[in-house]
Amino acid sequence: MSKNGSVALPANQIGTGVVLLALCACSGPQSSLDPAAPDASRVATLFWWMTVGSLVVWLVVVALAVYSTYVAPERHGEKQTRRLIVWGGVVFPTVVLLVLLIFGLKMLPELLAPAPPGSLRIRVSGEQWWWRVVYLPANGPPVTSANEIRLPVNQPVEFELESPDVIHSFWIPSLGGKMDMIPGRKTRLRLLPTRLGTFRGVCAEYCGTSHALMAFPVVVQTEQEFQSWLAGQALPARAPDAPEAQRGQAAFHEHGCGACHSVRGTDANGVIGPDLTHVGSRLSLGAGTTGATLADFERWIAETDKVKPGVHMPAFGMLSRADRTQLSVYLKSLQ
Ligand code: CUA
Repeated sequence: MSKNGSVALPANQIGTGVVLLALCACSGPQSSLDPAAPDASRVATLFWWMTVGSLVVWLVVVALAVYSTYVAPERHGEKQTRRLIVWGGVVFPTVVLLVLLIFGLKMLPELLAPAPPGSLRIRVSGEQWWWRVVYLPANGPPVTSANEIRLPVNQPVEFELESPDVIHSFWIPSLGGKMDMIPGRKTRLRLLPTRLGTFRGVCAEYCGTSHALMAFPVVVQTEQEFQSWLAGQALPARAPDAPEAQRGQAAFHEHGCGACHSVRGTDANGVIGPDLTHVGSRLSLGAGTTGATLADFERWIAETDKVKPGVHMPAFGMLSRADRTQLSVYLKSLQ
């Protein structure tokens, strides 16, 4: 403890902490420095070159500044000093930054190239604060889902991005750059996942209260796994067998959940909130906010606004414990 009561950390501890934090950001499901697609590799390469470039400029400029404070003024003529400032402080940084600018601009056509014809199309709409996802397969009807994206590996995919009200930004750091979702416009993003795994996408543009709770898992699967998953998602919901789930379905209708949510195959056909036809098979609730266990469903129903501040769905904390459990069992049964 220092005299004023604050905790003083030794410089080497702070240094180790900074290095560890920096290294943590280099891997994991949401790191643009651990690329799982060619576009993300390009972005990572650009990042490293820009880091090297800015470090070199910083070192040269700081070295010149330090040198100028140590050297006696009379040891330099005016001409020599001016030459140092012009070459070290103006020409050198300008050349380095210009090279980096050209390097970055040359990547743009590759990053913005459209997906080849026949690619899988997925329409994603940024809502407050969740993701409406519609798969548009070439040989079948659209398939609606939410808050989770599944992709076949080594297949180009074209995202059609839109938003009904505020600007969001769609970003899967492991797979590529980000793209804004702008009301009244359709933006496009082509990605090509080349590594199997589960990654994490986020909203990268401040869009309101729960902007930071607007994420989604991205599962990259084999072509076969993806096709069978998509075929399952296209089916209507299966009627629940277990009595508890059946009571939950009755509660779902009794409490008006179908006014906002759809469960295909039932008369719940609301479009305000996420489609719940197969919500029981998803990896997260509240757009990447919590897991998707029975306990998570119960908590989401009872304390919606605590789990996700600003959410439009009202909390149903007034329901009896039994009702909430049955509702959760029903929702979890929607596989
Ligand atoms: Cu949506 Cu930030």
